[in-house]
Amino acid sequence: MEILGIDVGGSGIKGYPVDTDSGEALGDRIRIPTPNPATPDAIADAIVEIAKHFSWSGPVGCALPARVKNGIVKTATNINKAFIGYDFAAELEKRLGSTVATVNDADAAGIAEMRFGAGRGRSGVVLLLTIGTGIGSALFIDGALVPNTEFGHINVEGHNGELYASDRTREKKDLSWKKWSKRFQHYLDRIEFLLGPDLIIIGGGVSKPERKEEWFKYLRTEADLVTAQTANRAGIIGAACNARDKAAALSI
Ligand code: BGC
Repeated sequence: MEILGIDVGGSGIKGYPVDTDSGEALGDRIRIPTPNPATPDAIADAIVEIAKHFSWSGPVGCALPARVKNGIVKTATNINKAFIGYDFAAELEKRLGSTVATVNDADAAGIAEMRFGAGRGRSGVVLLLTIGTGIGSALFIDGALVPNTEFGHINVEGHNGELYASDRTREKKDLSWKKWSKRFQHYLDRIEFLLGPDLIIIGGGVSKPERKEEWFKYLRTEADLVTAQTANRAGIIGAACNARDKAAALSI
């Protein structure tokens, strides 16, 4: 099935049509800088622009950096507070005239990795972590997603985990890769203590091969530790796959 996948991030809104059977792109990726303030209205405008660019009238899947339950946005740590309680999917459906499914961005990335990336064929407890503006988590048990986990916010060394170890914190504090990796190691130690996962997949910009080589070598975990294979496309692919699954469940 062909679905337009959209990933709303702290700095950019990205998307392209995805073949949800293969995970392949059906067009070049478009990126629009995230508007400031990133209100639901301004973000919806950007998504409509992306859909127009592809002359898209089919179904859409949209990943958001927030907990999303039954279409309603429940949290807004790194997005505009106006999102809380908002049915963003319904708003997009109104504007686009097509079906829209929204999903947490880390859950979307996890769905993509379990299907087409490092999690393929992996049973047991798999945790995907997306490292960027915040830290997002997607937890899978024998391939089934436990939706909307927020392990980015666990307490690490007396701090909120993502404030302590996100990529934004690395940039803001101008930490060397080695120094930052020590923080990230503390974060991972805590995750392993709390969850004991079999496999941890690291996604987000820091997982790109040229960045990975700067810091990944410093990490030690009991779980298998790998980087995401669908890299910064994971959110887009997973948003599209999630929309396909939702449509299938409703047998549209
Ligand atoms: C949010 C999560 C999100 C993550 C990555 C966190 O601040 O609470 O919902 O998945 O950032 O964007």
